[in-house]
Amino acid sequence: MIIKICTGSSCHLNGSYDVIQEFKSLLKKYDVEDLIELKASFCFNECINGVNVKCETGSMMNEEMPNMTLCDDGFLLHHATKENAEELFAKQIYPLLNLKKNA
Ligand code: FES
Repeated sequence: MIIKICTGSSCHLNGSYDVIQEFKSLLKKYDVEDLIELKASFCFNECINGVNVKCETGSMMNEEMPNMTLCDDGFLLHHATKENAEELFAKQIYPLLNLKKNA
């Protein structure tokens, strides 16, 4: 999976650098650095909803959740902040990895 965090001017002003740093820490914390590639991105033309985080899962999702827009290759999460990054990650991204837990 690829996660792209918008670093366009509006999202930058809304704290995208902090969101990137938080996502970097979360990939380490959840031990998924090998499974998720983190990238910065240009503007997604959703500036009013920034900071925007695009999750490229490779397929269209079936279910839209609050603060999310579906795309052909995944979904866009809106209003990401340093403070809500872990909640977004844990609820809307991590479960998609379908990791089997060791018993
Ligand atoms: S600057 Fe991030 S969506 Fe436009």
